[in-house]
Amino acid sequence: MTNVEAALNLVTDGMKLGLGSGSASERFLKGLGDRVKAGLKVRGVPTSNKIADLAKGYGIPLVELADALPIDLAVDGADEVDPDLNMIKGYGRALLREKIVAIAAKQFIILIGPERVAEKRVAVLGQRGKVPIEVVPFAVPLVVRLLTELQYGTEILTENDRPVISDNGNYLLNVEVAEIDDPPGFDLMLKGIPGVVETGLFLDMADAVFIETNGTIEELRR
Ligand code: A5P
Repeated sequence: MTNVEAALNLVTDGMKLGLGSGSASERFLKGLGDRVKAGLKVRGVPTSNKIADLAKGYGIPLVELADALPIDLAVDGADEVDPDLNMIKGYGRALLREKIVAIAAKQFIILIGPERVAEKRVAVLGQRGKVPIEVVPFAVPLVVRLLTELQYGTEILTENDRPVISDNGNYLLNVEVAEIDDPPGFDLMLKGIPGVVETGLFLDMADAVFIETNGTIEELRR
Protein backbone atom coordinates (compact mmCIF):
# COMPACT_ATOMS: atom_id res chain seq x y z
CA MET A 1 0.00 0.00 0.00
CA THR A 2 1.12 3.57 -0.65
CA ASN A 3 0.63 6.49 1.73
CA VAL A 4 -1.69 8.01 -0.87
CA GLU A 5 -3.91 4.90 -0.72
CA ALA A 6 -3.87 5.04 3.10
CA ALA A 7 -5.08 8.66 2.95
CA LEU A 8 -7.65 7.92 0.25
CA ASN A 9 -9.09 5.21 2.51
CA LEU A 10 -10.10 7.98 4.94
CA VAL A 11 -12.14 9.78 2.30
CA THR A 12 -15.87 9.15 2.26
CA ASP A 13 -18.75 10.44 0.14
CA GLY A 14 -19.78 14.01 0.82
CA MET A 15 -16.52 15.10 2.47
CA LYS A 16 -15.07 18.56 2.11
CA LEU A 17 -11.32 18.11 1.65
CA GLY A 18 -8.34 20.39 2.13
CA LEU A 19 -6.01 19.86 -0.83
CA GLY A 20 -2.38 20.46 0.11
CA SER A 21 0.44 21.47 -2.23
CA GLY A 22 3.65 19.76 -3.27
CA SER A 23 4.49 16.41 -4.84
CA ALA A 24 2.85 14.19 -2.19
CA SER A 25 -0.32 16.25 -2.40
CA GLU A 26 -0.25 16.03 -6.18
CA ARG A 27 -0.09 12.23 -5.98
CA PHE A 28 -3.02 12.26 -3.55
CA LEU A 29 -4.94 14.53 -5.91
CA LYS A 30 -4.42 12.18 -8.83
CA GLY A 31 -5.75 9.24 -6.79
CA LEU A 32 -8.67 11.35 -5.63
CA GLY A 33 -9.41 12.30 -9.23
CA ASP A 34 -9.63 8.61 -10.14
CA ARG A 35 -12.13 8.01 -7.33
CA VAL A 36 -14.17 11.04 -8.35
CA LYS A 37 -14.31 9.70 -11.90
CA ALA A 38 -15.56 6.43 -10.41
CA GLY A 39 -18.41 8.26 -8.65
CA LEU A 40 -17.04 9.57 -5.32
CA LYS A 41 -18.71 12.86 -4.35
CA VAL A 42 -16.32 15.28 -2.62
CA ARG A 43 -15.45 18.96 -2.83
CA GLY A 44 -11.97 20.39 -2.33
CA VAL A 45 -10.43 23.58 -1.00
CA PRO A 46 -7.11 24.04 -2.83
CA THR A 47 -4.08 25.51 -1.04
CA SER A 48 -2.45 26.93 -4.18
CA ASN A 49 -3.36 28.04 -7.66
CA LYS A 50 -1.36 25.13 -9.05
CA ILE A 51 -3.35 22.59 -7.04
CA ALA A 52 -6.61 24.32 -8.03
CA ASP A 53 -5.70 23.94 -11.71
CA LEU A 54 -4.69 20.30 -11.28
CA ALA A 55 -7.89 19.52 -9.35
CA LYS A 56 -10.00 21.06 -12.11
CA GLY A 57 -8.12 18.94 -14.64
CA TYR A 58 -8.97 15.80 -12.66
CA GLY A 59 -12.64 16.83 -12.44
CA ILE A 60 -12.56 17.38 -8.66
CA PRO A 61 -15.17 20.02 -7.73
CA LEU A 62 -13.75 22.96 -5.79
CA VAL A 63 -15.43 24.99 -3.08
CA GLU A 64 -14.66 28.33 -1.41
CA LEU A 65 -13.39 28.15 2.16
CA ALA A 66 -16.50 30.05 3.30
CA ASP A 67 -18.70 27.21 2.06
CA ALA A 68 -16.42 24.43 3.31
CA LEU A 69 -16.12 25.10 7.04
CA PRO A 70 -15.36 22.93 8.83
CA ILE A 71 -13.25 20.98 6.35
CA ASP A 72 -13.58 17.24 7.09
CA LEU A 73 -10.07 16.17 6.15
CA ALA A 74 -6.97 17.97 4.88
CA VAL A 75 -4.11 16.03 3.28
CA ASP A 76 -0.71 17.60 2.67
CA GLY A 77 3.03 16.92 2.57
CA ALA A 78 5.77 18.28 4.85
CA ASP A 79 9.44 19.16 4.69
CA GLU A 80 10.42 18.23 8.26
CA VAL A 81 8.57 16.17 10.88
CA ASP A 82 9.81 15.72 14.44
CA PRO A 83 8.88 12.85 16.82
CA ASP A 84 5.97 14.92 18.24
CA LEU A 85 4.61 15.47 14.71
CA ASN A 86 5.58 19.13 14.72
CA MET A 87 6.56 20.19 11.22
CA ILE A 88 8.24 22.63 8.93
CA LYS A 89 6.40 23.20 5.66
CA GLY A 90 6.55 25.69 2.84
CA TYR A 91 9.55 24.58 0.80
CA GLY A 92 6.94 24.43 -1.98
CA ARG A 93 5.85 28.07 -1.38
CA ALA A 94 2.25 27.48 -0.36
CA LEU A 95 2.51 27.68 3.41
CA LEU A 96 -0.05 30.40 4.14
CA ARG A 97 -3.09 28.77 2.57
CA GLU A 98 -1.84 25.39 3.76
CA LYS A 99 -1.91 26.59 7.35
CA ILE A 100 -5.35 28.18 6.97
CA VAL A 101 -6.75 24.96 5.54
CA ALA A 102 -5.02 22.80 8.16
CA ILE A 103 -6.50 24.84 11.00
CA ALA A 104 -9.91 24.74 9.32
CA ALA A 105 -9.83 20.95 9.09
CA LYS A 106 -11.18 18.47 11.62
CA GLN A 107 -8.45 16.02 10.58
CA PHE A 108 -5.02 16.91 9.19
CA ILE A 109 -3.05 14.06 7.60
CA ILE A 110 0.53 14.35 6.35
CA LEU A 111 2.12 12.20 3.67
CA ILE A 112 5.89 11.63 3.74
CA GLY A 113 7.80 9.54 1.23
CA PRO A 114 8.62 7.45 -0.61
CA GLU A 115 11.31 10.04 -1.51
CA ARG A 116 13.42 11.99 0.99
CA VAL A 117 12.06 10.18 4.09
CA ALA A 118 15.43 10.16 5.87
CA GLU A 119 15.89 13.88 5.27
CA LYS A 120 12.38 14.80 6.36
CA ARG A 121 12.26 12.80 9.61
CA VAL A 122 14.23 14.94 12.03
CA ALA A 123 14.99 14.64 15.72
CA VAL A 124 14.76 18.42 16.12
CA LEU A 125 13.06 20.90 13.77
CA GLY A 126 15.46 23.05 11.78
CA GLN A 127 17.88 20.31 10.77
CA ARG A 128 17.40 21.05 7.06
CA GLY A 129 18.51 24.61 7.76
CA LYS A 130 15.58 26.86 6.95
CA VAL A 131 12.13 28.03 7.93
CA PRO A 132 10.13 29.54 5.04
CA ILE A 133 8.06 32.64 5.84
CA GLU A 134 5.61 34.74 3.82
CA VAL A 135 6.09 38.50 4.11
CA VAL A 136 4.17 41.56 2.90
CA PRO A 137 6.39 43.13 0.17
CA PHE A 138 6.56 46.56 1.87
CA ALA A 139 7.92 44.98 5.06
CA VAL A 140 10.68 42.86 3.51
CA PRO A 141 13.58 45.29 4.19
CA LEU A 142 12.53 45.62 7.84
CA VAL A 143 12.10 41.88 8.30
CA VAL A 144 15.52 41.19 6.78
CA ARG A 145 17.14 43.90 8.90
CA LEU A 146 15.59 42.78 12.19
CA LEU A 147 16.42 39.13 11.57
CA THR A 148 19.99 40.06 10.62
CA GLU A 149 20.31 41.96 13.92
CA LEU A 150 19.19 38.76 15.65
CA GLN A 151 21.92 36.84 13.75
CA TYR A 152 19.58 35.02 11.38
CA GLY A 153 20.49 34.87 7.72
CA THR A 154 17.66 35.36 5.25
CA GLU A 155 17.15 34.51 1.60
CA ILE A 156 14.50 36.20 -0.53
CA LEU A 157 13.21 33.60 -3.00
CA THR A 158 13.76 34.67 -6.59
CA GLU A 159 13.10 33.30 -10.05
CA ASN A 160 14.82 34.78 -13.12
CA ASP A 161 16.33 37.46 -10.84
CA ARG A 162 12.94 38.66 -9.64
CA PRO A 163 11.33 37.99 -6.26
CA VAL A 164 8.88 35.11 -6.27
CA ILE A 165 5.38 36.40 -5.56
CA SER A 166 3.13 34.01 -3.63
CA ASP A 167 -0.46 33.25 -4.63
CA ASN A 168 -1.40 35.87 -2.02
CA GLY A 169 0.75 38.65 -3.50
CA ASN A 170 3.53 38.39 -0.91
CA TYR A 171 7.27 37.66 -0.92
CA LEU A 172 8.67 34.36 0.29
CA LEU A 173 11.79 34.28 2.44
CA ASN A 174 13.83 31.50 3.98
CA VAL A 175 15.10 32.16 7.48
CA GLU A 176 18.36 30.29 7.97
CA VAL A 177 18.31 28.22 11.13
CA ALA A 178 20.14 25.46 12.92
CA GLU A 179 18.27 23.12 15.28
CA ILE A 180 15.43 25.15 16.81
CA ASP A 181 15.44 24.82 20.63
CA ASP A 182 12.03 26.37 21.16
CA PRO A 183 9.83 26.11 18.04
CA PRO A 184 6.75 27.85 19.59
CA GLY A 185 8.95 30.71 20.85
CA PHE A 186 10.70 31.02 17.48
CA ASP A 187 7.34 31.06 15.70
CA LEU A 188 6.03 33.77 18.02
CA MET A 189 9.18 35.84 17.51
CA LEU A 190 8.87 35.63 13.73
CA LYS A 191 5.18 36.48 13.76
CA GLY A 192 5.89 39.39 16.10
CA ILE A 193 7.71 41.18 13.28
CA PRO A 194 5.25 43.44 11.45
CA GLY A 195 4.75 42.24 7.91
CA VAL A 196 5.42 38.55 8.59
CA VAL A 197 2.14 37.05 7.50
CA GLU A 198 2.85 33.42 8.36
CA THR A 199 5.65 30.96 9.02
CA GLY A 200 6.28 27.41 7.89
CA LEU A 201 6.25 26.13 11.48
CA PHE A 202 3.21 23.86 11.78
CA LEU A 203 3.19 23.03 15.48
CA ASP A 204 0.74 20.74 17.22
CA MET A 205 -1.37 20.49 14.09
CA ALA A 206 -0.95 17.09 12.41
CA ASP A 207 -3.28 14.32 13.56
CA ALA A 208 -1.29 11.66 11.76
CA VAL A 209 1.74 11.25 9.51
CA PHE A 210 1.77 8.40 6.98
CA ILE A 211 5.37 7.55 6.14
CA GLU A 212 5.98 5.34 3.11
CA THR A 213 9.21 3.44 2.67
CA ASN A 214 9.68 0.48 0.35
CA GLY A 215 5.96 -0.11 0.01
CA THR A 216 5.23 -0.17 3.74
CA ILE A 217 3.38 2.49 5.68
CA GLU A 218 4.32 3.65 9.14
CA GLU A 219 1.51 5.58 10.74
CA LEU A 220 2.49 8.09 13.43
CA ARG A 221 -0.30 9.53 15.54
CA ARG A 222 -0.34 11.99 18.40
C1 A5P B 1 4.24 23.50 0.02
O1 A5P B 1 4.45 24.83 0.33
C2 A5P B 1 4.86 22.67 1.06
O2 A5P B 1 4.50 22.94 2.36
C3 A5P B 1 4.73 21.19 0.78
O3 A5P B 1 3.61 20.64 1.38
C4 A5P B 1 5.94 20.55 1.31
O4 A5P B 1 7.01 21.30 0.79
C5 A5P B 1 6.08 19.10 0.95
O5 A5P B 1 6.22 18.98 -0.43
P1 A5P B 1 6.64 17.63 -1.13
O6 A5P B 1 5.51 16.68 -0.93
O7 A5P B 1 6.80 18.05 -2.58
O8 A5P B 1 7.92 17.18 -0.54
